[in-house]
Amino acid sequence: MHLQSLSMKINGKIAVVTGAGSGIGRALALALSKEGARLALNDFNKQTLEETGALVEEQGGEAPLLVDFDVADHKKMHAFAEQVASHFGQVDIMINNAGVALGKVTAEDVEYEDFEWIMGINFWGMVYGSKAFLPFLKARTEASLVNISSLFGLIGIAYQAPYCTTKFAIRGFTESLRMEMLDLSPQVCVTSVHPGGIKTKIARSARVVGSATKKESEQLVNKFEQSFMKTTAEEAARVILKGIKKKKGQVIIGNDAKIPSLIARVLPSRYINIIGKAMKRSGI
Ligand SMILES: NC(=O)c1ccc[n+]([C@@H]2O[C@H](COP(=O)([O-])OP(=O)(O)OC[C@H]3O[C@@H](n4cnc5c(N)ncnc54)[C@H](O)[C@@H]3O)[C@@H](O)[C@H]2O)c1
Repeated sequence: MHLQSLSMKINGKIAVVTGAGSGIGRALALALSKEGARLALNDFNKQTLEETGALVEEQGGEAPLLVDFDVADHKKMHAFAEQVASHFGQVDIMINNAGVALGKVTAEDVEYEDFEWIMGINFWGMVYGSKAFLPFLKARTEASLVNISSLFGLIGIAYQAPYCTTKFAIRGFTESLRMEMLDLSPQVCVTSVHPGGIKTKIARSARVVGSATKKESEQLVNKFEQSFMKTTAEEAARVILKGIKKKKGQVIIGNDAKIPSLIARVLPSRYINIIGKAMKRSGI
């Protein structure tokens, strides 16, 4: 019987990160490179992706393979997986990180076009990234597939039904796949990550939807950033890397994610009232 090691080393691994032009993705790229991983990075935004590549080199890392495309395009994702595998000869770590948000909107009012847009990137992008890279990960003696969900993949939140839907779906897919891999290819560790508020551009880059004016949306973003986005992207990356090394199935980042998710687990019906009231008091 082949015994699996209890921890994974990052040094010398080939790691892939989507959405690496900003926030958590950029911090992950820098942290992985610092620990000796060689990188293939994606982002929709060519300029910010190239900036991340330059930052990796500045801190002494090898120039990453940079491929800009939309993760919601499954043909491009599969072509990317082939390109990474032929460039490096192997793939060890795949992190489906690219994600977007919608502004405050009721489930009743949200346009299908906006709902489909966020599902395309957050949910389908993660499915495409997982399916495209799994054959390469399975070929390794140890490998890691990481899907970035959210606190909002553990608890529901008002006026964010589309975002919550994408993040709950990521958790469902990821937990199902983790069980499947334990049965079929136990050397592939599958992890879902649930960050609380991380100081990144995600809220500011959210698509403005519903009836809010641009000014109202901006005020809401300011309040959200001040009240909720407390953890740095570097700290989030550090916790995610620790989870990869320890082969964790689930990684929750920050007490602002750990406490509400615990309340939801212990009080699955009542948490809606408790957290709903707290959100109302905060004016979000
Ligand atoms: N910041 C938070 O508070 C927080 C909390 C929980 C979960 N998350 C999740 O973390 C992940 C990273 O978000 P972040 O906070 O670093 O945001 P960010 O906006 O700083 O970075 C997201 C990156 O994804 C890229 N991207 C967007 N659409 C893309 C597409 N279609 N194809 C390829 N790249 C695309 C953007 O260009 C950007 O560089 C997301 O999945 C997000 O949902 C963030």
